[in-house]
Amino acid sequence: MTSRIIIAVDGYSSTGKSTFAKAIAKELGYVYIDTGAMYRAVTLLAIRKGCAGRGRAVDAAALEALLSARPSVDVSFRVSGPDGTSETWLDGENVESSIRTLEVSGVVSHIAALPFVRDFVDRRLREIGARKGVVMDGRDIGTAVFPDAELKIFMTARPEVRARRRLEELRSRGEITDYAEVLRNIEERDYMDRHRKTAPLVKAADAVELDNSDMTVEDQMEWFRNLIKERKL
Ligand code: DC
Repeated sequence: MTSRIIIAVDGYSSTGKSTFAKAIAKELGYVYIDTGAMYRAVTLLAIRKGCAGRGRAVDAAALEALLSARPSVDVSFRVSGPDGTSETWLDGENVESSIRTLEVSGVVSHIAALPFVRDFVDRRLREIGARKGVVMDGRDIGTAVFPDAELKIFMTARPEVRARRRLEELRSRGEITDYAEVLRNIEERDYMDRHRKTAPLVKAADAVELDNSDMTVEDQMEWFRNLIKERKL
């Protein structure tokens, strides 16, 4: 790479965006930002403060008041390991594992659909991106947050492949669940992400699509190296 740029990696949930985005950040010496983690942290806050929960409507007014209170809610990323991976912190607490539960996954799409939540997160992401040399994974990075990102990648994979991957991830963390529930959760989130009014999940016109249903991580890296060579980045 000749100059430091912003790389937007958008796409459906459980397409391996974070694995891929982390790997390219490592290869380039860039910072990796998991933007979904910000929405998850806000969701965790909403659940803890009684503004949201599974199977009930979100109390948007109460959440908006929380997010606009001063001093403001602090969601940040802190580098935690020698390999440069970072963890999510909420108001001084490491919430990296608390934000990955099925409870948070079941509510997060509703929280991420609220325009004031998106404003709250976007403001923080733009501050981080201003330094360049970042790979951000999310849903709307190339369309809404950084429409001028120099490189945009849109990731997809078949829903069944994604459900299997997610199931393995949840089981490895000791969460008891089954394939049908995970697949349902993925399909529900796809629908919500695609149909919400604010910043719906769509492929940016200038994004390159990567369907990794039948690709290993190494295959994807190979694909990426060819792409930056082709684009002369
Ligand atoms: O990538 P993830 O599953 O951790 O994302 C959690 C939720 O946050 C998902 O339902 C979509 C939402 N999200 C979003 O709306 N915009 C982003 N840039 C990132 C995530």
